[in-house]
Amino acid sequence: MAKTKTSFYCQSCGYQTSKWLGRCPSCGEWNSFVEEVIQREDKKVPGRSSHDRSSARPTPVQEITYDSEFRVSTLNNELDRVLGGGMVPGSLILLGGEPGIGKSTLMLQIALQLKNLKILYVTGEESNQQIRMRAERIGIENNDCYILTENNTQSIFQHIEQLKPQLLVIDSIQTLQTSVIDSSAGSISQIRECAAELQRYAKASDVPVFMIGHITKEGSLAGPKILEHMVDTVLQFEGDRNYGYRIIRATKNRFGSTSELGIYEMQNSGLREVSNPSEILLSQRDENMSGVAIAATIEGMRPMLIETQALVSSAAYGTPQRSTTGFDTRRLNMLLAVLEKRSGFRMGVKDVFLNIAGGLRVDDPATDLAIVSAILSSSEDIPISQKYCFAAEVGLSGEIRSVNRIEQRISEADKLGFERIFISRFNFKGLEQNKFNIELVPVGKIEEVVGKLFG
Ligand code: TYD
Ligand code: MG
Repeated sequence: MAKTKTSFYCQSCGYQTSKWLGRCPSCGEWNSFVEEVIQREDKKVPGRSSHDRSSARPTPVQEITYDSEFRVSTLNNELDRVLGGGMVPGSLILLGGEPGIGKSTLMLQIALQLKNLKILYVTGEESNQQIRMRAERIGIENNDCYILTENNTQSIFQHIEQLKPQLLVIDSIQTLQTSVIDSSAGSISQIRECAAELQRYAKASDVPVFMIGHITKEGSLAGPKILEHMVDTVLQFEGDRNYGYRIIRATKNRFGSTSELGIYEMQNSGLREVSNPSEILLSQRDENMSGVAIAATIEGMRPMLIETQALVSSAAYGTPQRSTTGFDTRRLNMLLAVLEKRSGFRMGVKDVFLNIAGGLRVDDPATDLAIVSAILSSSEDIPISQKYCFAAEVGLSGEIRSVNRIEQRISEADKLGFERIFISRFNFKGLEQNKFNIELVPVGKIEEVVGKLFG
């Protein structure tokens, strides 16, 4: 009889070692090593060899043919866009997100909507009745959507062989267990082996596979990084649970861009696609308030106008506080330093709080000017007209820098009825000005912006 092979895995990051260690040299976690059986040599595994493709041979790259446009739509525009135009046959997609964010809801909704495909939704977390209740809540009927409560991969593959689904959803990868490995479900080697089996199945059958994955309290996908390497696409489902909005983005995509973003709103009957994000990201206000400025940003391919809110007040305690939601704190500190040095505002003694409306996170440098304006507006207590918006980056010497795709930003602001947009004068030069109804205000320095807004 062959010897059983074991290895020690860090349960936090997946680091592998042949002997037990107290502290993981990779992630620094203490007491995280667990011995796991990698493989029992004498074990015959049913169903494993059927997905092996031993007939593969080296092929000149020019001779490989593929259908470039072949993608399967999920019938959900937001998800399609994030995937790069639909599902690629045989791709393995990982959907990660915090508990309760709506991963199961999204996948079930997609499964119910896709009436022309046979779908198998495998759940190891919930009972059939629970899924049925959720399906009723979503309110779509579909006779071709099958639910399977099972967590052993070998029996899942047996059902798959009979049912021959055209789309497979696994909820969740952490609950799956394969007989090849002895360790318990959710352990690093189980996750890896189950994902590998699903990957082989997807590639051999050309069926797209969605795997739901949990997120650890640190915010990374539970299970080793290796999971992210194995899949074709990693989708992240996020959003503030207190807001109804959910954002889906690709953090890795072999078949599309990772800068796209999909927005949903969680309602009583499932997730609603938000196709015009500007509407929700501009908060409803009746009167002019100070400390609010609107930025014309671009997320992926989509321009959107979002509201930035700042509160500047005298520091109540010794050290001034800087706190941001949805924006990089270091970038805020930099902008404050620029304001202090270049335009003489005494920000060093002020508490500054910054908030991006709608629970969104932005890292578009074109929001800089809106943020600076919101801070100045709050500090001076003078409101900025709701009809103004901003699209420019602020440099270290207080210069207003140009940003990419300015025409798209201007058109979006124009479409939404804004009257003036502040842009860099370098962007202004190359623009055809009478194309837009909106007034373009070119600025070169922070002082000019201050003069035009509050002067
Ligand atoms: P769920 O999909 O179970 O989250 P996950 O799989 O990511 O853990 O979603 C859960 C939350 O969404 C839950 O708190 C209930 C809420 N919800 C709605 O608000 N409306 C709905 O139609 C559904 C199905 C769920
Ligand atoms: Mg779930």
